[in-house]
Amino acid sequence: MNQWTREARYRPLSDVDPSVYQAMKEEVRTSPWRFSYHIQPPTGLLNDPNGFVYHDGLYHLFYQWFPLGPVHGLKYWYHMTSKDLVHWFDEGAALIPNDDPDSHGAYSGSGFIKDDQVHIMYTGNKRDADWNRHTSQIVGHLRSDGRIEKHLPPAIPTVPEGYTEHFRDPKVFQVASGMWYCIIGAQRSDLTGCTVIYQSQDAEHWTFLGELQTNYPTFGYMWECPDYFELDGKGVLLFSPQGIEPDGVNYQNIFQSGYFIGEPLALPNLEFTHESFQELDFGFDFYAPQTTEAADGRRILVGWMGLPDISYPSDIYNWAHALTLPRELSIEHGQLRQRPVRELTQLRKETLFDETILFEQDVTIAEAEIFELVLSDLKLTSDSFRFSVRQEATEQTVFHYDAVSRQFTIDRSRSGAEVPAESFGTSRSTVLTKDLHTLRLFVDRSSFELFLNDGEAVASGRIFPKGSSRGIEFSGEAAAHLSLYDLS
Ligand code: FRU
Repeated sequence: MNQWTREARYRPLSDVDPSVYQAMKEEVRTSPWRFSYHIQPPTGLLNDPNGFVYHDGLYHLFYQWFPLGPVHGLKYWYHMTSKDLVHWFDEGAALIPNDDPDSHGAYSGSGFIKDDQVHIMYTGNKRDADWNRHTSQIVGHLRSDGRIEKHLPPAIPTVPEGYTEHFRDPKVFQVASGMWYCIIGAQRSDLTGCTVIYQSQDAEHWTFLGELQTNYPTFGYMWECPDYFELDGKGVLLFSPQGIEPDGVNYQNIFQSGYFIGEPLALPNLEFTHESFQELDFGFDFYAPQTTEAADGRRILVGWMGLPDISYPSDIYNWAHALTLPRELSIEHGQLRQRPVRELTQLRKETLFDETILFEQDVTIAEAEIFELVLSDLKLTSDSFRFSVRQEATEQTVFHYDAVSRQFTIDRSRSGAEVPAESFGTSRSTVLTKDLHTLRLFVDRSSFELFLNDGEAVASGRIFPKGSSRGIEFSGEAAAHLSLYDLS
């Protein structure tokens, strides 16, 4: 994308005449592959979810946003609110990168509630005249006019000794004693990734405690977007490490996102006793997830349904990416489970199919473009089973299960005109720990999100089929209850 000179990438939205921005919005709104029920940018590029928090009857969810094109440039925070995690209200740009410490981007960060107000902490990204990066961590709060007021100067103005300027994405949390902590993604001076922890009495003045001690002292060159929370008696650290090599069916994407489950942290002690790293999502397009606690105590996760440094077919229409559906997390038998939030059943419009059926040979069961498909009580009478969606003569997205190896595979090689990140492969697999018994699949105009065995494994991916590719076809021999809901 050669027109994306440095100058073009760092052009602020305020430089653009409002009528030009309106025209961009209109062009994007009417372009192909726009989502029906996912959070997507009005123009330009969306990346990480930010500032996810619940307050006073409303969920606040922000995202990283470059308004002027499908590239990573000057980042704003765009603000959405919802009462139910299903229907989202567009609140517009809330955090504007127009101060010296964030002159080259208001990078990722988190939300927290203090003094009955939504607060945030984010990374100010600044480039100097020699294009050297300077990062700081800035606290702010959401005003009633919908804008974030920054508490400048930055709460953490520089990077501590021993780390590079790749030091970002503070996630703030409060412990029972009332003490505040924040965990930040970092790169050590020896170019390995880790996270560090700060402590504060008031969430404004922060003291550096040091590095969180894990069993993975060398695991990639940078850890982005850390998140720490406690769930079902365990401590969970989420992060997005960069620089991990593929290993069997694992780590197939350019960058990964995953977690450690361990003993709850006893901060300010920085030892973390934990199990091995697990990926959160075995699909193609998933990164930089963030969680929050819901009104009723559930832990809710949202990710970016995209990846850095990959181009997508919608780029030519001047927009890119979406957030995933919210997922509710739990730990069952020591394993993290992710289910679509229960509120999402509200999306179901018409029931297109709801029967127990026996699949034999190839059957086209229905046509749909934007739908939820649920298979339960699955019983295979042959070694394997497959189905495809968004199918027509030359297009299909294929889901395949091999009962002998318990391997589940998704193939997007024929999903549409262009396949993103083709050099990273066109299929993804996981090996289940139990026989496949249930499956839930959400398909939007240009995405799928698959939940296997009641949240044991999840996969997200972007696909770019024609609107007319609507077939749903099964093959193999199996019995199951199949429900299909139109979500358009
Ligand atoms: C992750 C990330 C973050 C950074 C943000 C900038 O995708 O690189 O580490 O804060 O995106 O947009």
